[in-house]
Amino acid sequence: MTQGEKKVKERIDYLRKVIEKHDYNYYVLASPKISDQEYDQLYKELEKLEQEYPQFLSKDSPTQKVGAKVLREFKRVEHSQPMLSLDNTYNEEDIYAFSERIKKNIDQPFHYCVELKIDGVSFAARYLNGKLDRGISRGNGVIGEDITEHLRQTKGLPKELSQEIDIEVRGEVYMPEDVFAHVNKVREENGLEIFANPRNATAGTFRQLNTIEVRKRGIGSFTYSVVEPEKYGIKSQTQMLERLQALGFTIENHYKSLESIDDVIDYWLTWTEKRHELNFDIDGLVVKVDELDLQKELGSTAHSPRWAIAFKFPAEQKETTLESLTWSVGRTGVITPVAHLTPVILAGTTVKNANLHNIDNIREKDIKIKDKVIIEKAGEIIPQVVRVIKEKRTGSEKAIEPPEECPVCGGEVGKAKSDEVAIRCLNPVCPAKVKRALQTFSSREAMNIEGLGEKLIDQLVEREMVEDIADIYYISEEQLISLERMGQKSAKNLMGEIEKSKQKELHHLLAGLGIPNVGKKTAKEIANAFRSLDKIVNANMDDLTVIEGIGEEMARGIVRFFSNERIKTIIKKLKEADVGRSEEKEELTGTNLKGLKFVITGELQSLTRSEIKKKIESQGGKTTSAVSRKTDYLLCGKNPGSKLDKAKQLNVKIINEQEFFNLLNR
Ligand code: IVH
Repeated sequence: MTQGEKKVKERIDYLRKVIEKHDYNYYVLASPKISDQEYDQLYKELEKLEQEYPQFLSKDSPTQKVGAKVLREFKRVEHSQPMLSLDNTYNEEDIYAFSERIKKNIDQPFHYCVELKIDGVSFAARYLNGKLDRGISRGNGVIGEDITEHLRQTKGLPKELSQEIDIEVRGEVYMPEDVFAHVNKVREENGLEIFANPRNATAGTFRQLNTIEVRKRGIGSFTYSVVEPEKYGIKSQTQMLERLQALGFTIENHYKSLESIDDVIDYWLTWTEKRHELNFDIDGLVVKVDELDLQKELGSTAHSPRWAIAFKFPAEQKETTLESLTWSVGRTGVITPVAHLTPVILAGTTVKNANLHNIDNIREKDIKIKDKVIIEKAGEIIPQVVRVIKEKRTGSEKAIEPPEECPVCGGEVGKAKSDEVAIRCLNPVCPAKVKRALQTFSSREAMNIEGLGEKLIDQLVEREMVEDIADIYYISEEQLISLERMGQKSAKNLMGEIEKSKQKELHHLLAGLGIPNVGKKTAKEIANAFRSLDKIVNANMDDLTVIEGIGEEMARGIVRFFSNERIKTIIKKLKEADVGRSEEKEELTGTNLKGLKFVITGELQSLTRSEIKKKIESQGGKTTSAVSRKTDYLLCGKNPGSKLDKAKQLNVKIINEQEFFNLLNR
């Protein structure tokens, strides 16, 4: 080892130690001592050094352990014991019946342990020697998916316990209300569909292969049970919660041990009122027989335990009047009926509008304008009209008819597919569509054109100065000045911003085009893989599916998008305006891999695929997607796919990451 390398190794060791300490503070003690930014800086420095000096890479490095990994797929894992669900009740009568059933089966005094029912997503976590070994999602209750890496990024779930024991616990992960509001705001700004509720948002986050999202979104956890508690001398549910807390888990602290079912009902009534005071969603209480020996005696059915029940809150409902209705046109042209209501307070917020979904729903519920209606918020942020109070009709109510033309442009309407319920505006240049498309295009994640906000976009479209996103590059300063509230100076500034956006990297442009299902991350992967707009436009299914994170369905959407004639015109106009220019090839820094063709398969430990690709190109090599006789090397990571078999068949040389780096640096 040279003197220089020794220094690097020392720095790496030092960084690993500090990062581990901060991880402990963050994940175990839930009490970080440095800001996220400071932490990121340390982490990035370590990552960089490890990339530059792969010889020092180690499986024990925090970059390999805690680093949010991008998984290739979800592995299936069998549960040690089935994850059952709970029977539900919504009223006092049923909860009395539950209590009677228990009393009939056990003839000794007992307690109820009453907990809040977290409206999240359940998980199981196994610890070996006090270390988090595996996380499993509920799945079908018998077999779940491996979510170990997701749980490592979850708050309140320790990676190391205060005792070196083997134990399996179960609980719920959730997205806090404030994070949820923020996530949806950002999604809306970027033209993405918003999550209906925090539970969906949590599930969506856990379904992503990129586990950094779990940490970024501040997913939290509450743990409420231990599998095989008798092994640890635990005698009651209350003791179980205390024990979990002592081990380092976050438990939901509003649990109570109660003696009578009347007290349980009182506690339920209290929380029916107070549920919105928390920073996470609850949808009821869980009532459990506290004593574990009695739980055992009562046993379970195949579906749920007999010793517990979910005592759910009623969905919150209010009566109001449907004053009027408008049809709103989305970016894809779908026309949705929106009901405008006499404002009422429901579940803590003032409600003015309700989504009526589509004409079939309106007909089914026989909803008319001026009807008195019952609206409900059942876990969704947008309230629904549950039913019409027909007894209160006066005869002056007016039927709702589907629009015969687009409410925005007057264009033809119809169904995109015959089995679709939604009606769409079929005019490709409908101002409503163009406005939404422009909002996406100029948003921060995309071309980030400062000053091109909603109001201005409205004017540009309404005055027919732009008919598609590309037109923005053909506007003149004079045209801008002619708009309301637009002085000479702001017009000049905006022209400058528009011009500046031409320099934006390719992935920003891709994120702004509104390709179905392509968000910021996928846009980056695609841009990295092709580095030229032309290549992306002409990519076929095979070219696309080799990219990380792109499945068949998404690839099909992308190909279909670029084969649309209107999109072709837009792309042509963008290119003529010098937007979306090709990105420079990786600079040639050597010739170690000159003329060699590589194929990559499996999960790589040190670098991402695109980074490896860059390394190969920087030394004069090439990567291709499929193994053929012309392939020189198959770079094989963990859990390789069928490419490995193909390579063996064709006698292609197979190398691991270390061997690859040897070649690269030879
Ligand atoms: S105990 C045998 N306790 O509710 C199942 N579950 O509707 C015992 N849940 O699958 C579950 N908070 O995901 C229990 N304090 C709590 C809970 C809770 C939320 C979820 C859990 C379960 C679902 C049943």
